[in-house]
Amino acid sequence: MAQRRILVTAALPYANGHIHLGHLVEYLQTDIWVRFQKLRGHRCIYICADDTHGTPIMLRARKEGRSELDLIAEMREAHISDFSSFEIEFDNYGSTHSDANRELCAEFWSALREAGLVREKSVSQLFDKQAGVFLADRFVRGTCPKCGAADQYGDSCDKCGSTYSPSDLKDPVSSISGTTPEVREAPHLFVELEALHDFLEEWTQAGEHLQPEIANYLKGHFLAEPLRDWDVSRPEPYFGFEIPDSPGNYWYVWFDAPIGYLASTREWCERAGEDFSDWWKNPETEIHHFIGKDITYFHTLFWPAMLKTAGYTLPKKIHIHGFLTVNGEKMSKSKGTFVRASTYLEHLEPAYLRYYYASKLGPRVDDLDMNLEEFEAKVNADLVGKVVNLASRTARFAAATGLSAAYPSDGDLFETAAAQSESIAEAYETGDYNRAMRDIMVLADRANRYVERNAPWELKKDPDRAKELQDVCTVALNLFRQIVVYLSPVLPRLAKQTAELLGQPIERWNEVETPLIGTPVGKFSRMLDRVETKKVQAMIEASREEQAESQSANEQEAGSPTLKEEPLAAEITIEDFAKVDLRVARVEAAEEIPEAKKLLKLTLSLGGDETRTVFAGIKAAYTPESLVGRQVVMVANLAPRKMRFGVSEGMVVAAGPGGKEVFLLSPDEGAQPGQRLH
Ligand code: 2FM
Ligand code: ZN
Repeated sequence: MAQRRILVTAALPYANGHIHLGHLVEYLQTDIWVRFQKLRGHRCIYICADDTHGTPIMLRARKEGRSELDLIAEMREAHISDFSSFEIEFDNYGSTHSDANRELCAEFWSALREAGLVREKSVSQLFDKQAGVFLADRFVRGTCPKCGAADQYGDSCDKCGSTYSPSDLKDPVSSISGTTPEVREAPHLFVELEALHDFLEEWTQAGEHLQPEIANYLKGHFLAEPLRDWDVSRPEPYFGFEIPDSPGNYWYVWFDAPIGYLASTREWCERAGEDFSDWWKNPETEIHHFIGKDITYFHTLFWPAMLKTAGYTLPKKIHIHGFLTVNGEKMSKSKGTFVRASTYLEHLEPAYLRYYYASKLGPRVDDLDMNLEEFEAKVNADLVGKVVNLASRTARFAAATGLSAAYPSDGDLFETAAAQSESIAEAYETGDYNRAMRDIMVLADRANRYVERNAPWELKKDPDRAKELQDVCTVALNLFRQIVVYLSPVLPRLAKQTAELLGQPIERWNEVETPLIGTPVGKFSRMLDRVETKKVQAMIEASREEQAESQSANEQEAGSPTLKEEPLAAEITIEDFAKVDLRVARVEAAEEIPEAKKLLKLTLSLGGDETRTVFAGIKAAYTPESLVGRQVVMVANLAPRKMRFGVSEGMVVAAGPGGKEVFLLSPDEGAQPGQRLH
C-alpha cells in the first residue's frame, strides 16, 4: 500500500466559549480518523487552532474589562486542556491571531485583488452610538418589517420566515446597550464569487469531494442562481486584522478563519522542519476538512473559491456531520444536557464518550443523538463486558508463564478476525465508525464464547492442565489484543494499557495479522470501570447548576429587573437638570400626623434660621425619633403644595418602591445644611 500524505483539519473553535459535548462530536470524529490513518502507516497531520476574531470577542473583552489578547489567551489554554484530556491529539494547535495568519491573509487578499475579484460597495448597517460599534445581525432585535412580529433578529423573522436587511427592521434596539441604533453607511469590500460559478459547480458536483446530500443541496440552492457577492470587510472598531490596502477596515472573521488552517500548518512545518508547499501546494497531498453542517456554505463555496484563486490545493474531501442532540432534544442549559467538556471530565472517563460517539457516527450528515441510558448500557456491555473482560478473565493466569511459545490452535478465530482487517479499515476510512464498532464487537463476542467454553478458571484448579491453561490464555489475550488494535484509533488509552500488559506497543494496523508468542504477560491492573448511573446524573446536575449560576450572574450584571419595571426617563440636558435645586438639609423636627396613614411632618433646616416644612410619605419606614438630627436631600425649589394638613414646601429625596421599602438619601459626613447638589 502506497503511503499517502494527508492533512486533516477540524473546524477552529471560537475563542468566546468553552468546549462542550456538541463540539466533541467533531474533534473526536476527526481524531479517530487521524489516528486510524497514522496506524495504517500514512503520513497524516491533524491541524487546528482557535478562531479568535470578530465582534463577539471584542464585546466580551470589553464587558470583562480586559484586552482581547488576554481573553483569547485564557480561552486557548482552556481549549487545549479540554482537548488533551479527551486524548484529542493535534499536530499543531495555532491561533488565527498569529503572524503566520496575518501574512497568509495578505497573500490571499493580493491574489483576489489581482484576479479582479474585489469590489467596493457601500453598505448601510445599524450602528450603536453608545457602544460605538456596528451591529452584527444577531445583536439587533426589533419588529419584523413584513409581518409586524415583535422581538425579531436583525436579519430574519422567526414568525413569518422572511429575511431582510437590518436597516429595514422597525423599532430596532441594540442588544448591547439597549439603545436605538442609527443607520450608517460605510464602504465594504466584496468578493465577486459569481466569477467562479463554473469552477464551483464543477468542484462541488465532481462526486468525490462532498457527501451526495451536500452536493445536491448546493446544486439546488446556491448554485441554481448567481452567487451573491461576499462581504469580507468590516469597518473599525473590530478585533481582527486591518486590511493593508484599506485602512480602517478589517477582514471579516470568516475570511481569516479558514486561512488559519494554513497558518497553523505553517507553524507545524517550521517546527517539524517540513516544507509548507509539500502540504498545501502539492496535488499529491490529500486535504480533508471535518466540519459541522452549519458551516457548509463557508467551506464548500467561499473556501474553495479562495484556495483556487490563491493557487493552493483544493480539499480532497469535506466531511460534514450533523448536530448533537441529547435524549432526542437540542442540548438544553436548563435541563443540564448542555454539558461542558470539563464538567464531563469531573464525572466520567473520556473513553466512554470516545467509544459511544464512534458507535453512533456514520458517513452521512445525520444528527447524532446521545441517549444517556443507551450511553451507559452500551459502554458497559461492549467495552467493559466484552472487551476488557477478555483480559481481566485471563491475564492473571498467564502472568507466571507468559504466552505459549507457539500459537495454539484456536478454531481459526484469530485468522478469521485478521481477515476482516480490510473491511474494518474501509469502514474507518469512509467514516462509518458505527459499522466498524459493530464488526469489532462481533469479534469480541466470539472471543468471549471461546473463553467461556475453555473456562481457564477451571483449568487453573488442575496443576496437570497448566499447559492447556497457558494455551487458552495465549489465544484469549491475542484475540483481546487484536480487538484492541482495531479499536485503538477510538481508545488510545486502552491501547497503551494493553501494550504495557503484553510488553508490545501497538503501532501498526497490520499487527492484527500476527499473534504474539513466547512473550511475558505483566501484572493485570484495572483498565476501565463501569459507567455508573449516579455519575451520569451528577454530571447533568452539575451542568444544570452551572447554568443557573451563570444566569443569575448575568442578571445581576444587567441589573435589569429594576430597570425593566421602571425604564429610564427620556433624555434631558444639563440645563434641564440645573433647574432642579437639590439641597442638603438637616431634620430639625419630625412629628406624626395621627390622621395621615403615610405622612410624617418634617421641619428641615437649610442652615442659619432658614427652615422649610415638608410632608413626606415615609411613615411606614421611619419613626420620627430616628429622623431628628440626620441629614437628608431635599428638592428645595419645588412649588409649594397645599395638602390636607398644611403646605408642603419641598420634597425629601428617597429611593425604593414605597411602603416599608423607602430609603432616604443622605450626604457623606462633612456636608453642611443648605449646600447644593451638582
Ligand atoms: O463555526 C465556528 O465555530 C467557527 N469558529 C469555525 C471556523 S472553521 C474555519 F473556517 F476556521
Ligand atoms: Zn415576520
